[in-house]
Amino acid sequence: MHTWVMDRVEILSARELETMRRSCRMAASCLSAVGEILHVGITTEDINRFVHEYITSRDAYPAPLNYNGFPKSVCTSVNEVVCHGIPGPQVLTSGDIINVDVTTMLPKVAGYFGDTSAMFYIGDPSEDAQKVVEVARESLRRAIAVVGPGARLGDIGHVIQSYAEAQGCSVVRDYVGHGVGRKFHMPPQVAHYGTAGTGRRLKEGMTFTIEPMINLGGFETELQSDGWTVLTRDRSLSAQFEHTLRVTSSGCEVLTAREGVLKHSEDRPWVRAA
Ligand code: MF3
Ligand code: CO
Ligand code: CO
Repeated sequence: MHTWVMDRVEILSARELETMRRSCRMAASCLSAVGEILHVGITTEDINRFVHEYITSRDAYPAPLNYNGFPKSVCTSVNEVVCHGIPGPQVLTSGDIINVDVTTMLPKVAGYFGDTSAMFYIGDPSEDAQKVVEVARESLRRAIAVVGPGARLGDIGHVIQSYAEAQGCSVVRDYVGHGVGRKFHMPPQVAHYGTAGTGRRLKEGMTFTIEPMINLGGFETELQSDGWTVLTRDRSLSAQFEHTLRVTSSGCEVLTAREGVLKHSEDRPWVRAA
């Protein structure tokens, strides 16, 4: 989401954390299930319908729906769309890359939020597509590896930016990760660029997302006239992965870790479920 000024970090109680874990596990399993249904010829509205049904049939609520007026239950961002793509009649064709961003709220009223996204390959990817997707995947993996008590927010941004730029890609500045828990978006802001050793110190119990958006060209973005769809200004390809994390005494727990291999995305399991 867009950046904000307020900065009050909330820590969940043990009881709240159990519900948060369930919400995050549901978001993760929903994303895995999306991987199973993707194919050349599917529309982004088909993905929306599937996600809506998956979440509502499990007594949870798809958090994007009506969030600040967002009209659908999931974000689907294809090719040069950076984030917040709105599902619709668009037919996916071979060579497309798509980010599917699932956010659950459990229970469905005043619940806890689980937020996770991944890139999928539709049919055969171009070299450019593989490049930006794999750089985004690896940048999130490296960022997760530095999360722990005492680490600082700037350490997260630094590891993403230094890796992505060394690979010849750029890091989107206009949208950031965020605290998540009793609200969809709350402090702190988690920038995906920055300087090591700067920014807020992480402490045990903090729950937040890391969701780097990596572009093949420049980092600049442009908001489409629908008020939601974010594009790369130079129309280069963009890729994003997102996990919800909790800082533990020794590192972090990936609350949205998946079971098994994500179809149409991973060739091996990547972040193991706890
Ligand atoms: N899931 C997105 C995030 O990671 C936010 C989507 S807001 C919506 O923060 F309204 F577009 F759904
Ligand atoms: Co998020
Ligand atoms: Co998200």
